Amino acid sequence: MRTQVVIIGGGPSGLLLGQLLHRKGIETVILERKTREYVLARIRAGILETGLVELLREAGVSERMDRESLVHDGTCISYENELFDINFSKLIGQNVVVYGQTELTRDLYDAREAAGGRMIFETENVEIHDTERDAPYVTFTVDGTEQRIDCDFIAGCDGFHGVSRKTIPDSVRKEYEKVFPFGWLGILSETPPVHDELIYANSQRGFALCSMRNENLSRYYVQCELTDRVEDWSDEAFWEELKRRLPEAVADKLVTGPSIEKSIAPLRSFVCEPMRWGRLFLCGDAAHIVPPTGAKGLNTAASDVHYLYEGLVQFYQDKDAEGLDTYSQRALARIWKAERFSWATTNMLHRFPDQSDFDLKMQRAEIESLHHNEIAQRWFAQNYVGLPY
Ligand code: APR
Ligand code: PHB
Repeated sequence: MRTQVVIIGGGPSGLLLGQLLHRKGIETVILERKTREYVLARIRAGILETGLVELLREAGVSERMDRESLVHDGTCISYENELFDINFSKLIGQNVVVYGQTELTRDLYDAREAAGGRMIFETENVEIHDTERDAPYVTFTVDGTEQRIDCDFIAGCDGFHGVSRKTIPDSVRKEYEKVFPFGWLGILSETPPVHDELIYANSQRGFALCSMRNENLSRYYVQCELTDRVEDWSDEAFWEELKRRLPEAVADKLVTGPSIEKSIAPLRSFVCEPMRWGRLFLCGDAAHIVPPTGAKGLNTAASDVHYLYEGLVQFYQDKDAEGLDTYSQRALARIWKAERFSWATTNMLHRFPDQSDFDLKMQRAEIESLHHNEIAQRWFAQNYVGLPY
């Protein structure tokens, strides 16, 4: 088999890149180790920056998003019983779109099928070869049969646990990591959201987040111990703890119900440099991870896709490799800013086991500044809605 670009990974990064390239007549094959159903069962954040919304429009997959998504002009932050709003629209004339990653991924799968794009599921033993030559190839097995695809380029969109990042030699690869000493316990419930915008809560009992998917599907999180297990938390225990971390007026309005999904996720910051090795380009979670506090995971994947898509189109249409040669540097420049925002919001809103009274005063002062200082609010707003590509 031969194609122009082999995309390893059928998550948001791989699917969006494949769809964009297809619309420019650039041929791809997507290799996904799981089934479509498995991928679509993943529950992930659903805050879309402007840049991602525009990319989805360019990819021709925005029709359902335009119909079903919510537009949020701002977000709320609470500290104990205090609640304030940061209005992105008033401050910087921009907003964010609330649309579940599962729905976005489903739209991308539907588009791939409609376009007749080749996608091979349940691939195993994927190996990347000859990335330093101009004729790389990928081998893998499917249904026990050895396969090989020769190509011009390989997009490593295979997430944090994929094979692509490890293809870059240890002597070349530099990894940066920070693991946070807590996790997020999240639930999905078919209940109306407690507020019309998200609420990021800092309380003496720890962080909480009130989010949503639509008018009758809410997503809530509470900071939990890394040793906690989902089975340690009954729905009742979750709802009681969430109420304790919210301002009373908000807690009084909370509509509770049975969880339809419950999971615990660890929080880490991670970046791999470089994001290119010859004809291999890393994209999305394969290259970087953010703590979910700033809702940047999907959005940093999107900016990688934007830069790689631009570079590949420039190569095939203009025989110009400039975009590909600057991909890693351009992508990383934006990724590090998103890493900083995610790290800063995580430090501002969570309670740490080793926090001193002075540390708590610093946290309080930072939230106070955000509450009353317009310049601080504008800076937060610019980072939350997404810095320009
Ligand atoms: N071969 C083929 N596919 C693989 C392999 C492999 N060796 N390893 C992983 N995959 C697949 C996974 O099954 C997954 O479907 O690659 C896909 C990677 O998807 P994600 O992990 O979702 O990463 P990405 O597409 O970059 O999207 C980033 O998803 O995880 C969230 O928070 C993250 O919102 C962010 C977004
Ligand atoms: C979510 O809705 O799952 C969500 C929203 C915002 C975040 C993190 C998660 O910062």
